[in-house]
Amino acid sequence: MKKMKSRINICMIGTGYVGLVSGTCLAEIGHRVVCVDNDGRKINYLKKGIIPIYEEGLEALVNKNVKKGNLFFANSVKEGLHHNKQRAEAVFIAVGTPPRDDGSADLSAVEKVAEEIAKNMTDYTVVVEKSTVPVETCLWIEKTVNRFNKRNIPFDVASNPEFLREGSAVWDFLNPDRVVIGVSSKRAESLMRKIYAPLKKSPMLITDVKSAELIKHASNSFLSTKISFINAVANICEKTGANIDDIAKGMGLDKRIGSSFLKAGIGFGGFCFPKDLEAFYWLAKQKDYDFELLKNVKDINEQQKNWMVKRVEEELWNLSGKRVAVLGLAFKPNTDDMRFAPSINIIGSLKKLGAKVKAYDPVAIKNAKKVLKGVEFAPDPYSCVKNADCICLLTEWDEFKRLNFKKILSLVRHPILIDGRNLYVPQVMRKMGFTYKSVGRP
Ligand SMILES: NC(=O)c1ccc[n+]([C@@H]2O[C@H](COP(=O)([O-])OP(=O)(O)OC[C@H]3O[C@@H](n4cnc5c(N)ncnc54)[C@H](O)[C@@H]3O)[C@@H](O)[C@H]2O)c1
Repeated sequence: MKKMKSRINICMIGTGYVGLVSGTCLAEIGHRVVCVDNDGRKINYLKKGIIPIYEEGLEALVNKNVKKGNLFFANSVKEGLHHNKQRAEAVFIAVGTPPRDDGSADLSAVEKVAEEIAKNMTDYTVVVEKSTVPVETCLWIEKTVNRFNKRNIPFDVASNPEFLREGSAVWDFLNPDRVVIGVSSKRAESLMRKIYAPLKKSPMLITDVKSAELIKHASNSFLSTKISFINAVANICEKTGANIDDIAKGMGLDKRIGSSFLKAGIGFGGFCFPKDLEAFYWLAKQKDYDFELLKNVKDINEQQKNWMVKRVEEELWNLSGKRVAVLGLAFKPNTDDMRFAPSINIIGSLKKLGAKVKAYDPVAIKNAKKVLKGVEFAPDPYSCVKNADCICLLTEWDEFKRLNFKKILSLVRHPILIDGRNLYVPQVMRKMGFTYKSVGRP
């Protein structure tokens, strides 16, 4: 019997948070992967062993797989598809799909890549959507590839949405809750099964391509809904004196609800939830369905970002000239990603009201400098809070759990701490001498 080939030649186009992690992890599980990006600087860095993003465990895994000859980097799709005369059998598209002004997904990078693949493939290829795309994008990819596929090379389009979370992306990719694969032919299914065969502990769900596309949008929108729901309940808590921590616990113990994503705070951000919610709402509208629930989820999230500014005003009255220390800038801990981070809106509002903002984040300052103007950045939490009239905690980094609060009390002008992530125990903070406010807790 012919032995099944287990090492697949893969090309990953787009070497960002998803492409670099997915490409590296696919190399780690035994495939030969070429990661491509049209950002020449990024590829040059990677070729020198410099990792352009912060993600735990990624650097070691990249270096290990480069050394083993499993992972390569290239500047063009052409090179990626035929790197060292090895033809890629599966080409993953992992480029950005950012929101347009109207909320719909900008798929121009996906289209460009589909065209490049069509022009450069030389034998049967599975074109895999890894980027998050609206349902039916597969039809556009197919149309585009057909248009530029002058030699009539056979191909299939598959969908393989990515569910990794920034901050634990390597772990998530290698230990997924499920692998979703949308295919339209047995040939594509067989190749995709081989690619993911080493992750045998995770359930694999094979669907048609449109359903796989929709699973990703539906999942992200559902998670966003859970966050907005608990934030809305937290608002009721603040008006009634109930405690959101107990409520989340009480709800979460119900197996039908589950405890994850029931943490009240200043709202969700990042490159995925806000844009995927918008794109899903927009797509439904295109299909003549008013998915109003998603609009409410978004509105609650926007209002929640004002929570922090309102609390600061409640404590400091006029903000003009007042010094606000911001701890945490990234949209969540363990990442340097600032895309759609709530800190951008909150700091923008504080500055508009005249506050002087000094900020610290363990890893996101480099990216924050690109999007936050007129903010002073501190090298550590203590110089950040020095002479502050108020401290705002925006990201729940572990580092902030272990702060020396005695030292902080000696440095600030006023011991006011507004905790947007419910990181601390209210009684403990108050006993130490802070005027302490958190979300939905008396
Ligand atoms: N970031 C996440 O946590 C996450 C999780 C799941 C899914 N996704 C989805 O994955 C996709 C990528 O997200 P990301 O966070 O990795 O974005 P990113 O911006 O970090 O990476 C995208 C990369 O694609 C490159 N690129 C753009 N056009 C290109 C082209 N024509 N040829 C080659 N490279 C090109 C960019 O230079 C960039 O490096 C998005 O659709 C996103 O919604 C993201």
